[in-house]
Amino acid sequence: MKPTLLPYQYHAIMCCGKNCGENLSLFRYLKKRLADEGLYNTDSTTVRINKAACLGVCCEGPIMVVHPAGIWYCHLDETAIDRIITEHFIGGKVVDAYCFHEAGKA
Ligand code: FES
Repeated sequence: MKPTLLPYQYHAIMCCGKNCGENLSLFRYLKKRLADEGLYNTDSTTVRINKAACLGVCCEGPIMVVHPAGIWYCHLDETAIDRIITEHFIGGKVVDAYCFHEAGKA
């Protein structure tokens, strides 16, 4: 038997590790804002979210990676989260101001 998951469009993994400020309040903010926008709840979700203890970057954090495209964001705060929700998760466009790496690009 295999595990099952609800369908989702994006998977955002936010680092809440020591070198990213152990910023659980920012993770809670992300979760609340996604719920406010109808993008995250327990029955169906557009954005699946998880915390990580370290994503292996450890500077210029907090860091978050968004799959499936492997979009890496840095310098996260509530303003950045608001923009990523509006422009990326709703609008489908990477927020260049906070993006420092895209998978498959140099
Ligand atoms: S502690 Fe956040 S990337 Fe390592």
